[in-house]
Amino acid sequence: MIQCGRMTQVIAVANQKGGVGKTTTSVNLAAYLAGAGKRVLLADLDPQGNASSSLGVAPGDRSLYDVLVGEAPPESVVALSRRMGLDVIPSGPALAAAEVELVGVEKREKRLREALRPLLPRYDLVLLDCPPSLGLITVNALTAADGLLAPIQCEYLALEGLGQLLGTIQLVQNGPNRDLQLFGIVMTMFDGRTRLARQVVDEVRKHYPKKLFRTLIPRSVYLSEAPSYGQSIFEYHGNSKAAQAYASLGEEFMSRLR
Ligand SMILES: Nc1ncnc2c1ncn2[C@@H]1O[C@H](COP(=O)(O)OP(=O)(O)OP(=O)(O)O)[C@@H](O)[C@H]1O
Ligand SMILES: [Mg+2]
Repeated sequence: MIQCGRMTQVIAVANQKGGVGKTTTSVNLAAYLAGAGKRVLLADLDPQGNASSSLGVAPGDRSLYDVLVGEAPPESVVALSRRMGLDVIPSGPALAAAEVELVGVEKREKRLREALRPLLPRYDLVLLDCPPSLGLITVNALTAADGLLAPIQCEYLALEGLGQLLGTIQLVQNGPNRDLQLFGIVMTMFDGRTRLARQVVDEVRKHYPKKLFRTLIPRSVYLSEAPSYGQSIFEYHGNSKAAQAYASLGEEFMSRLR
């Protein structure tokens, strides 16, 4: 078979630490890339369902859970986001059970990879918004992914959490997904007025000069408000610094794609 064009890239947005901007980054990056003409699928892997609701996508009768436990075909859970080029796989509270129910199932860490396979030809990019843990769902995401995008909050001890995350990458590389790469690190909730924030960025840059995105995502109240309107930052406040930052991150992101 002849392969036309580029292969679909699957990027997991993960960090076991809670509240660092995984969902905000997944949603706004997905919105930007779709606006830039990419065909994007955003899969909400967090039982909290924040990514789905941030885009105004209601949880369906079925969610990724039904696919992971083998009770629904993958295409049956893809929802339209009412935005050109952006589809969503909603989450649902049942997804939390998958973490437990899949234990003991053969090849349990490859479930998501298998589930996504038939959907890939329809998309240029698949973003996986992971829950704040390194449990089975995140391992499924890293097994399905070509790359990991790690959002890190500009705060004390940021590097320590990163070390643990990179350890998990290594485990996955030595196990179910040898091809997994660290795609990039993005610093979130940056407040340039504080010395600590600048020090943290400098330190991460020193350790991971090639991986850190140049774009820093500023702390912005618009980013925290937009989800309650079911809007991306581009719809909510398209002229804000926050929107400019996610646009700039989107451009950097695309320049790193193979
Ligand atoms: N740059 C920012 N400026 C201000 N608030 C932000 C920013 N990024 C995210 N937030 C807010 O911080 C909170 C946590 O962000 P988000 O939900 O994206 O993190 P998360 O890593 O996905 O969290 P969880 O681990 O619970 O999934 C949310 O209320 C979000 O609106
Ligand atoms: Mg989240």
